[in-house]
Amino acid sequence: MSLSFHEFSIDQYPEAYALWESSEGIGLSEADSRGNIERFLGRNPGLSFTARDGGRLVGALLCGDDGRRGYLHHLAVAADHRRRGVGSALVDRSLAALAARGVRKCHIFVIRANEEGKRFWARVGWQERATLLIMSRDIAP
Ligand SMILES: CC(C)(COP(=O)(O)OP(=O)(O)OC[C@H]1O[C@@H](n2cnc3c(N)ncnc32)[C@H](O)[C@@H]1OP(=O)(O)O)[C@@H](O)C(=O)NCCC(=O)NCCS
Repeated sequence: MSLSFHEFSIDQYPEAYALWESSEGIGLSEADSRGNIERFLGRNPGLSFTARDGGRLVGALLCGDDGRRGYLHHLAVAADHRRRGVGSALVDRSLAALAARGVRKCHIFVIRANEEGKRFWARVGWQERATLLIMSRDIAP
């Protein structure tokens, strides 16, 4: 294994999207089009990372902040590279970059049925916010 970590650049989008598509626990939508991810990366420079094993993308994580709090999205590691510290290393990089920007807390969205994902996040120090509920609304064009 020849592992390296990189800032998430838009040219890695096709590989990252393929990884997300093949990863259980990742919910994709029109929000994840190439144009939207390019806009996300442009608004949040230096916060999102990928992991590569040689020439192959084996991990990806999106991270953004709104000036107050940080948000992680779509953490995924290729099935044959799991349990080797890749996921936590990606998270650590994004959290360090958030801290460098003065952001003191970060949130994640986890599909409630994603038991493995929940175990991972708990293992690396994240706490469920049982008193909070996510509510959403579509915005008409
Ligand atoms: C969740 C995921 C990103 C973890 O990536 P990973 O590279 O295997 O995680 P790491 O090797 O960095 O694990 C960090 C710690 O969490 C633990 N862990 C990882 N996956 C775990 C699981 N499924 N159950 C219990 N513990 C787990 C590891 O054992 C390790 O603990 P340790 O430091 O005591 O050894 C990966 O399983 C994945 O891509 N899953 C599918 C997509 C997904 O669900 N993403 C999360 C969306 S919210």
